[in-house]
Amino acid sequence: MKKASTSSETPGQIQISLELLVATIEAAKDSIMITTTELNEPGPTIVYVNPAFTRMTGYSLAETIGRNPRFLQGLETDRKVMDELRHKLSRKEVFCGKAVNYRKDGSTFVNEWHIKPIVTENSQISHFLAIQHDVTEREKAYQMLAESEKQRRQQAIMLEEQAAALENKNNALHEMLQQIQWEKQKVKQDNALNHTLNISEIILPILRKLKRKSSQVDQAYLTVLENSLRDLNSRFGRNLIERDFGLSPREVEIANMARQGLATKAIALTLNIAIGTVEIHRRNIRKKLGITNVEVNLTNYLQKL
Ligand SMILES: Cc1cc2nc3c(=O)[nH]c(=O)nc-3n(C[C@H](O)[C@H](O)[C@H](O)COP(=O)(O)O)c2cc1C
Repeated sequence: MKKASTSSETPGQIQISLELLVATIEAAKDSIMITTTELNEPGPTIVYVNPAFTRMTGYSLAETIGRNPRFLQGLETDRKVMDELRHKLSRKEVFCGKAVNYRKDGSTFVNEWHIKPIVTENSQISHFLAIQHDVTEREKAYQMLAESEKQRRQQAIMLEEQAAALENKNNALHEMLQQIQWEKQKVKQDNALNHTLNISEIILPILRKLKRKSSQVDQAYLTVLENSLRDLNSRFGRNLIERDFGLSPREVEIANMARQGLATKAIALTLNIAIGTVEIHRRNIRKKLGITNVEVNLTNYLQKL
């Protein structure tokens, strides 16, 4: 059996035969190629490929020997990678890289090589040795991963933009609500002011004039009316309006009279309505003011408002 190395071996060293080495290379799963060292065309010339190369490319050993590996290249092969390969090998450096290659049937695959100069004992380069892998599936997976990462980033940016837009809307809404609140407050104040002005500057002077020209009975009624209006204009009146108990104008009138201490009969007489009607109004006023306890006196309650 031939030995792989002809150099002297110390006893006990493992002797690896050339046949064993060849059998190992032939059985390897990775594609292995050995070429001559001339980098310019027509070199480098292929001197050996293993069966894994044939499985990867579809080219047999006989179809490959004597050619240079450029026959695997095509339109999609990256020229920059080939320039780098040439640059590294011309400097006797190891090259690692990948590029698109073409099989015998014309289909493409991504070939990844590891090329190493084989240096002889007298420091000369005798051959180049390439170990090649078909990394098409891995590259596809990387591309898909990169694509989904890109989509995820775009979605994250979109979500951030949507969140910012929502926050802007939220702030605008908040400002609008504050504005509405402020307007409501202002309208309330303005109403109270108008109402005060209307009563004290317009209605009360007219009432006083009317009283002077009226009969005694009418004067009594007008006095109650005048007092009621004054009261409405007071804190009590504004309280009734602003707290929005939902009292009708008639109920406000009766509540005011009750607050002044007028009994049901007197109210009925003054307003010229039935006692029963006043009682119904009083019950409704109690309900609207939320007085549930029958013990609570309406007049006292109204005077505290
Ligand atoms: C050992 C070895 C193996 C190579 N294997 C391949 C290969 O499988 N596919 C390929 O496209 N080029 C391969 N090349 C590269 C080309 O043979 C050539 O060197 C490259 O295209 C640069 O030369 P150029 O600038 O003349 O094109 C290999 C080169 C060497 C030395």
